Amino acid sequence: NSRRNFWPRGTEIMARIVGGITTSHIPAIGNAISREMFEDPYWKPFFDAYPRAREWLDEVKPDVAIVVYNDHGLNFFLDKMPTFAIGAAPQYTNDDEGWGLQPLPPYQGDPELSWHIINSLVADEFDICSCQEMLVDHGFTVPMSLMWPDRAKMTVRSIPVAVNTVQHPLPTPARCFKLGQAIGRAVASFPKDLKVVVLGTGGLSHQLDGQRAGFINKEFDLMCMEKIVSDPEALTRYSIHDLVRLAGAQGAELILWLIMRGTMTGTVSKVHSNYHIPISNTGAGLLVLENAV
Ligand code: DHB
Ligand code: FE
Repeated sequence: NSRRNFWPRGTEIMARIVGGITTSHIPAIGNAISREMFEDPYWKPFFDAYPRAREWLDEVKPDVAIVVYNDHGLNFFLDKMPTFAIGAAPQYTNDDEGWGLQPLPPYQGDPELSWHIINSLVADEFDICSCQEMLVDHGFTVPMSLMWPDRAKMTVRSIPVAVNTVQHPLPTPARCFKLGQAIGRAVASFPKDLKVVVLGTGGLSHQLDGQRAGFINKEFDLMCMEKIVSDPEALTRYSIHDLVRLAGAQGAELILWLIMRGTMTGTVSKVHSNYHIPISNTGAGLLVLENAV
């Protein structure tokens, strides 16, 4: 304690959110990566967008990635479905919940920062589910493979944040944006010199089943990509049913992008973006945002 008093108040170096990346997490991407189909005419316009995102990550060198994604039936199933769940494990094991993806080696966690975020969120009235064990599915691994393709060189630790986009009722866009803001406050109050990047995975428009299977709404997707940068609050006025109508049943994954955007409370600028349709059944979007604190 006496040592602490040497330092004037306010000089403690805190963790900070250096930026955010949103990307679709379509399982077919995982298969295309393992088959190295980067130059294939179908895949090239998609994969060509990612080197710029990796370049930016090389520049900012984040220590931790908070990965906001949805579990698709691997770790949680319809019988027990938390609205918001946060990993607090030393590592996260991957498995395939049915898409035929090759399971990838475990991802290193950061339990100390996880527990800080969990404590801060609950104090901030977000009653999340804390997970000291958590399997991660394609919603987590596909974006991680796109950002850090070489696992031997990957030093970033990760904190998965799983959000229910599968079984209604889903959390509203407004609630998700507020969760992002609360995660942002939690990170900013962690007294360690850490750079944190936030990934929002999933989206954009897609519907995998039912009468509208294959539904994609390019106009809506492009509007969302613009608003996420310049006016995210505009997107918080949609209801979940608006999102299902406008972006498809699985297009509601857009709420994960809003959580990412909510974490960034500094001056936000766009580094890079790409939109390509279709990849599998989905409007595939990529957005790299920098957060100047
Ligand atoms: C597809 C997209 C998803 O977000 C997902 O979780 C599974 C499949 C697709 O377009 O194939
Ligand atoms: Fe999905």
